[in-house]
Formats: sequence, C-alpha cells, structure tokens
Amino acid sequence: MNHFELRDGELFCEDTPLSRIAGSVGTPVYVYSSATLERHFQVLRSAFVEAGLKGEDGGPPLIAYAVKANPNLAVLATLARMGAGADTVSEGEIRRALAAGIPPGRIVFSGAGKREEEIRFALETGISEINVESEPELRLIARVALSLGRPARLAVRVNPDVAAGGHAKITTGGAGNKFGVSFSEAERLYAEAAADPWLQPVGLTCHIGSQISSLAPLEAAFRRMRELVERLRARGLPVLMLDLGGGLGVPYFNQPDPPSPADYAAMVARVTDGLGVGLAFEPGRVIAANAGVLLAQVLHIHERPEGRRFVVLDAAMNDLIRPAMYDAYHDIRPVRPRQGPSVIADVVGPVCETGDTFTRDRELPPLESGDLVAFMSAGAYGASMSSEYNSRLMAPEVLVRGRDWAIVRPRPTYEEMLAREARPPWLD
Ligand code: LLP
Repeated sequence: MNHFELRDGELFCEDTPLSRIAGSVGTPVYVYSSATLERHFQVLRSAFVEAGLKGEDGGPPLIAYAVKANPNLAVLATLARMGAGADTVSEGEIRRALAAGIPPGRIVFSGAGKREEEIRFALETGISEINVESEPELRLIARVALSLGRPARLAVRVNPDVAAGGHAKITTGGAGNKFGVSFSEAERLYAEAAADPWLQPVGLTCHIGSQISSLAPLEAAFRRMRELVERLRARGLPVLMLDLGGGLGVPYFNQPDPPSPADYAAMVARVTDGLGVGLAFEPGRVIAANAGVLLAQVLHIHERPEGRRFVVLDAAMNDLIRPAMYDAYHDIRPVRPRQGPSVIADVVGPVCETGDTFTRDRELPPLESGDLVAFMSAGAYGASMSSEYNSRLMAPEVLVRGRDWAIVRPRPTYEEMLAREARPPWLD
C-alpha cells in the first residue's frame, strides 16, 4: 500500500497535491512519502516479529535497509527513526547512514570490491559486520584489522548458485555472477578466518537477486545456507547470524504479484526453525519503490506521419534509467486526469538516444502539452541511479509528511554544475 492517490480529480502524496510541489519546485522532481516509507518498514518488521524471527540480540531481526535503493539523507533519517539499520556498499553509503543517525552497530558493509581505505574506515567506525565476498578480500580485511589492532566482525557471502530476479542484470546468485564464494570455499574461508585472531567470522550472508517474484528460489537458497551453518557447526565453528539479503519484489503493475512480507517471513521461519541464529535482512526496493514518484511535465505531443505518437516529457533516462536499462515498467499517471478516450503512444525524454524511451505503444489516458505526469514506483533505484547525462541538472527530491513537504535535495544550478569542473593551466 502507498500514499499516492487521487482526491477530487488530482493525484496527492499523503495530504499534499503533487501539482503544488511541481508548481513550486519545477519538474522533473522526485517526491517521496514518509508515511509509505514508515509503513513498509513497519509491515516488514511486524511480519518478522509475528513469524517469531529474532535478531542476534534476541530482539527483532536487523532490517538493514539497502541504502543504494534510495540514499537520500532524509529517507535514511526517516527509516533510522523507525530503528532501521543500513546495508551499505561504499564508504559514501556508510557515511550517509551515519549522517542520518543510523548507529554503526546496525550498519553492514557489502559489495564485491571494497577498497583498503573503505575497509579501514568501516573498522574504525565500528560497523556491525563486513560481508566478505572473496578470498583476496578476506586477506585484505585481515591485514587492515591487524594494522589497526581491531578485530573485524565478518559474514562470508555465499553465492548459493540459485539465480533469481526480475531481469538478468539484477540477478546475483548464479554461479556465473561475480558475487560471493561457493559453499566449499565459504567453509574453508570461514575456518581460516576463525583461526585468525584479527578476524571474527560471526555468520553467513547471501543475496540472490532483486525484484524476486516467487519464494521458491529464495527458499532453495536459504535451505542451502542452513546446511552450511550446520556443516560449520559440526566442525566446531560458531555461527551466530545469517544475513539473508534483500530481493523481495514489488508490484510494478505488469509483473506477477510478489510474495507478501508475511509469506516471506513464514518461509524464513520454516527454513531456520530450531537453528538458533540471529537473522538480518537487507531490503531496499520493497521499502522505497512504492514510496516515491518521479513527476514530469509533458513538453510536446509529437505525431509522426507514419502514425506514431510520442509524448515528449521533460524527464529523461538520466533521471530514471530503469526502463532503458532493465526494460522496467513504470505506471505513468496524469496528475490531473482529463476526460476522454485513451491513446496509444510512446513516452520519451529529451535525451539524444533512442534508448531514452520510457515505454512504447502504451495505452495512456488523454494528455496535452503542459500536463503533469507521475512515474509510479520510482522511489527505489530512481534518483539513486540518476546522472547529468546530456548536461541535464539532477532532478531535485522532495519528502512529504502529511500536508508538509520539504526539498531534501535541491536542483543544482547550472553555475554549480559548471563550477565542479576546472580548466587545466595549459588552456588558459
Ligand atoms: N543486498 C545486496 C547485497 C544487494 O546487492 C542488493 C541490491 C540489496 C541488498 C537490495 O536488494 P532489493 O531488496 O532492493 O532487491 N538497480 C536495479 C536493482 C539492483 C539491485 C542491486 N542489489 C533496479 O533498478 O531494478
């Protein structure tokens, strides 16, 4: 459920009309709903608690929100107040999580290629765990921990060889993917780490893909993770926690309905029953996607003689790359729907690439130049993947709370964009 709905013929975010935000901030602009973020977090946590799942400390499992989905500080701070942790993949994300008030003890550091400085920063900050993705990385962490005189708490990322996800580019759990190590390697690395005084292996982690629409691959992967926990324990190695990653899909209109948080939690409870490990999760999309929209304005309706109709927006692939990159479907809704018959059109942006197409041959409600439209479910991997391609300014971000709203990332000025670059002395 989200808090974007039509009221009196106009699309609102909570108690704020979207047209008011667009009128004041301009378009394109990302708009997020605090109530939706909070609700999604709460629904997940309740599902985990009701299924009897526990975290390492015996309380509810750690929900380490995947910062990459939407790293805006205001979004992170909203979730921090709910008790969220953070799954991070760079020093930048760790710094964001800390700046938003997420305690280091709830931050995990994942990612297939961590730099030495980043590992040092993570250890100095005292984050909860580093998810080790490879043998060379384990060696590097051991070296940094030794040089700092601080033991590193680790979870070994296993690649369970179960591929899942809404698109090949967001599938991570196949043996051919770069992420994590095999089961046998994990067993060896875990034992090696346990023998190193500067390494503290405390558990295992996996993340098999994103936008997963069925529990079956998750369950298969988690069962294999359980077997590994049992094998490690049989060798006398302590395993205190399992971080089961993220990946739960959201309903993007034309996709199969994803599993509910309650069904997901019940499955995890079944698989981990009696195992006595603390659990952690790294959800991103399921918290943020439906908590945000990208607002854009129709610049032109362009009809080509061959009969194709193009709705040209002021938002482009640099603002929302998911359709170009993953053929992703985002519902496109007029902010003030007009009466009249629907039309078939392509919706495109102004960027100089044919790939700057949000959708083709979509049946759309009537639209005219100047109308505002909202790309729905754009709160995850929207702003966070945006760029300045074609020297377009990054879309600003707005957070709504009831009738209140605030710009949480302003649109930069052209002067700011140019001031970031410098001329080398020989061109002066
Ligand atoms: N944990 C790890 C280690 C991850 O790599 C990811 C996402 C997550 C958690 C969060 O997954 P989620 O719950 O959001 O599915 N840009 C793509 C999605 C890439 C996901 C990458 N990893 C998209 O727009 O669909």
